Amino acid sequence: MNVLGIETSCDETSAAVVADDGAGARVASCVILSQDVHRVYQGVVPELASRAHLVAIGPVVSRALADAGLALEAVDLVAVTEGPGLIGALLVGVSYAKGLSLAAGTPLVGIHHLEAHLFGTALDDPAAVPPFIGLIVSGGHSLLLDVPAWGDYRLLGATRDDAVGEAFDKVGTLLGLGYPGGPVVERAARAGDPARFRFPRPMLHARQQPGDDDYFDLSMSGLKTAVIHAVKASADLDADRPHLARGFQDAVLDVLVAKTTRALDLLGRTRVVLGGGVACNRALREALAAALATRGATLHAPSPRLSTDNAAMIARAGLFRAAEAGRPVDASARLPFPGLAAA
Ligand code: KG4
Ligand code: ZN
Repeated sequence: MNVLGIETSCDETSAAVVADDGAGARVASCVILSQDVHRVYQGVVPELASRAHLVAIGPVVSRALADAGLALEAVDLVAVTEGPGLIGALLVGVSYAKGLSLAAGTPLVGIHHLEAHLFGTALDDPAAVPPFIGLIVSGGHSLLLDVPAWGDYRLLGATRDDAVGEAFDKVGTLLGLGYPGGPVVERAARAGDPARFRFPRPMLHARQQPGDDDYFDLSMSGLKTAVIHAVKASADLDADRPHLARGFQDAVLDVLVAKTTRALDLLGRTRVVLGGGVACNRALREALAAALATRGATLHAPSPRLSTDNAAMIARAGLFRAAEAGRPVDASARLPFPGLAAA
């Protein structure tokens, strides 16, 4: 079975072919075109994203098919991100996918972007299978999930304000490091002294008990404000920059590691699947892997290429949806997250 995936939810135009010949899913091609224009504005401008998708979508899909050595007629299923994301950007991918599906008579399935991030990790690491704790941290979302089986997602916690990647982006801008902030803040933090700035660990304190509504939830806005105050108070920002970046990153990592290990301990899972753009952060991977090792648990993280938005994960989720097709689906449970239930 050959699945063509299409992803246009934010600022990457991507198309990919994932093939399954019975021996497991394989990425036959994956084209990712990152939109550069948003750097100028230090954030994604929705209208510019939609227009850039419109220009790129045709060539990107053709390239993905050519790289896989496939004609459109050989595609068995078209899978497209239907949400969440920027509405104008999503419309470009969904309209294009509908057009392909109508023209070639190929079935079409809409995919939830966040479910797909979990499948992205599984493409790189075949051991990333349920049951696991899922941590999805991207520019738009931060979720902690219990995943007893594919298709069964229990929301443990989420951010109450900024997503983790968004906080990295804002701190990157604040420190004058440019956009997107994640990679540049991480690089700056490597030269930073962890003792120079100690920022608050939001929503993390010893008195929290399982069942408290902030036990798993995240919040980034207070931490961001603390960084703003420290930047304003700095007499020499050039000298303080790496230390500020380090203080911020350490605070984020402490919270993510603590909330993830709480979930592991409470639910008795032995695997953590990481996904989303922030999964590129090496310090996060190392801190999580070290904390998991003390519990005999393992971390499953995607390669940087499949951490950020890509259509291979959309196609992989499409394969799963196709396999599920024979089973009864509760249509009311499909959005905002198929199979999502409160834990
Ligand atoms: O998943 P993604 O490509 O797009 C969304 O769905 O949002 O994630 C992009 C986010 C950006 O906020 C970016 O700053 C962040 O991932 N990111 C990182 C790193 N690389 C990318 N955050 C922290 N450390 C990194 N090395
Ligand atoms: Zn994403």
